Amino acid sequence: MSHAFYNVLHIVGLVLLTSSLAGILMHRQTGTGERPRMLAILHGIGLFLLLLAGFGMLARLGIMWPWPGWVVFKVVLFAVLGAFPALSKRFDAGIGWWIAILLILLAAWTGITKPF
Ligand code: HEM
Repeated sequence: MSHAFYNVLHIVGLVLLTSSLAGILMHRQTGTGERPRMLAILHGIGLFLLLLAGFGMLARLGIMWPWPGWVVFKVVLFAVLGAFPALSKRFDAGIGWWIAILLILLAAWTGITKPF
């Protein structure tokens, strides 16, 4: 698969993940009862596409182990975003929005600028 194909898949994963985080936080602030299962499904598929396409792009860019700092940082961000639904129960939903926005901004900035 081409780099462009993985890049599109990576962005689709980002959109699905972001939608799930928004749904989880909205449900925390306004919802009642069980969290819709669709949010967990969107979260899982979003993470899977980000991971698959992220490593696909690394391969196309010829980036192997040992990874540069920015890739390690992205994998850490990925893990935190993966745990976000559980972690979000520990802090106020209002703060949760800012944490989610910051995590996604950092992942995008790191992927585009590769700063370290
Ligand atoms: C295992 C985790 C991840 C890996 C290995 C990974 C890998 C990459 C790579 C290699 C690029 C650069 C592609 C290039 O310069 O051609 C990239 C770009 C990007 N990544 Fe990731 N990424 C991961 C997780 C994430 C996460 C969690 C997000 C956001 C929630 C994210 C958002 C982005 C964005 C927005 C870009 C810029 C794409 C573009 O320039 O069109 N990534 N990622």
